[in-house]
Amino acid sequence: MKNSKLLFASLIVSGIILMAMGFTNADEWIVPAKYKTMENPYASSSDDYGSELYETHCTSCHGDEGYGDGKKAETLETSMRELGSEEVQSQTDGELYYKSVIGRDEMSNFEKKISSVEDRWLLINYLRTLAE
Ligand code: HEC
Repeated sequence: MKNSKLLFASLIVSGIILMAMGFTNADEWIVPAKYKTMENPYASSSDDYGSELYETHCTSCHGDEGYGDGKKAETLETSMRELGSEEVQSQTDGELYYKSVIGRDEMSNFEKKISSVEDRWLLINYLRTLAE
């Protein structure tokens, strides 16, 4: 009797652990390999048009400095990392391109709004200037 209660309790506990793990994994944003290794053809460009694009399209949520404190941020359910943080900056240009342009859920898709490929890379160059 005692043993079956124990078994039952441990089943519940492991269920909770598995569920928690499931949630964490769902949170992980996996970028397709093709994007991950994509070269930034404008990496050495000195054109700072990216800052204007950031101002126009990104500050509403990410805030001026990328802290995630834009006006719209409070209305979002998904939390944002600081764009200048190590976690974000350690990603490849291709990863940031994918997340910035393709997006997912509350992170908007910008394929139409920023249709020029050059502009998209200039925007990624700008994100690099936010590094802390
Ligand atoms: C409507 C609000 C909103 C706008 C506008 C927005 N973002 Fe986001 N962004 C988010 C949210 C929410 C996340 C977190 C998404 C997630 O983890 O699922 C995010 C995540 C990101 C990430 C991934 C960071 C990480 O954790 O790896 C990058 C890069 C990013 N945004 C760049 C941009 C850029 C560049 C723009 C402007 C072109 C922009 N975002 C506009 C809401 C927004």
